[in-house]
Amino acid sequence: MSNNIEIVKKLYSEEPALKDMRDYTNKKLKIWENEVVSHFSVKSWILDIGCGMGREAFCLYDRGFRITAIDISEKVIEPAKQFALESKRDIEFLLTDGLDLPFESNTFDVVIMWSQTFGLFYEEENKIHILKECSRVLKSNGILSFSGHDKEFLKAKYSQYLDGKKFFPYADTDCYWKAFTTDEMIDLAQKTGFSVVECKRGIVYKEEDGPILHCVCRK
Ligand SMILES: C[S@@+](CC[C@H](N)C(=O)[O-])C[C@H]1O[C@@H](n2cnc3c(N)ncnc32)[C@H](O)[C@@H]1O
Repeated sequence: MSNNIEIVKKLYSEEPALKDMRDYTNKKLKIWENEVVSHFSVKSWILDIGCGMGREAFCLYDRGFRITAIDISEKVIEPAKQFALESKRDIEFLLTDGLDLPFESNTFDVVIMWSQTFGLFYEEENKIHILKECSRVLKSNGILSFSGHDKEFLKAKYSQYLDGKKFFPYADTDCYWKAFTTDEMIDLAQKTGFSVVECKRGIVYKEEDGPILHCVCRK
């Protein structure tokens, strides 16, 4: 994991990734994310892994949830903290690596790893490790929701950016997203002890954007 952390951190410390994220900050939750939120109990305490500049964190806070949000890039966490302060939203933003979570066991009602952040954990052992960490910090029966790029969709539409299962949407970087099939996502969730509630393609903002895969599971 150690070498890829530096690659990912570098991408999220520079334009154009920061610009993309800034543009997303004012956006609403995605269509599939809104559907997933219907599984969350009122006033759930949510851990948001790979929060970026806080798109999901701010939306979910405004829906009445308690939020702790983490990211490895100072360049995204600092503006998110600042905006929380200015807008008087009581959200805890922390600069930390999401691989080893700095939280007590059985703490959160929900963990989200959205915007395909899961695909930035390279190598199977790291994916297993982070899912086990999510399970550890979740309360019994807690919910994990994670998403990934849809390999079949990318193969059909964006094969020029795909190298096997590695998706390279940004030029001049070694940073890629691992793309998944639904069976692979289900397998990873089950291997780490989760019960899968649903794993399916979800609409992002518009049908034309194409689907992403997401998995909702319970500890
Ligand atoms: C695609 S962006 C999504 C940002 C945000 N969720 C949004 O929708 O605007 C992925 C984020 O995950 C963060 N990230 C990647 N690997 C991480 C890790 N190991 N621990 C914590 N954050 C990580 C990146 O720094 C980046 O901000």
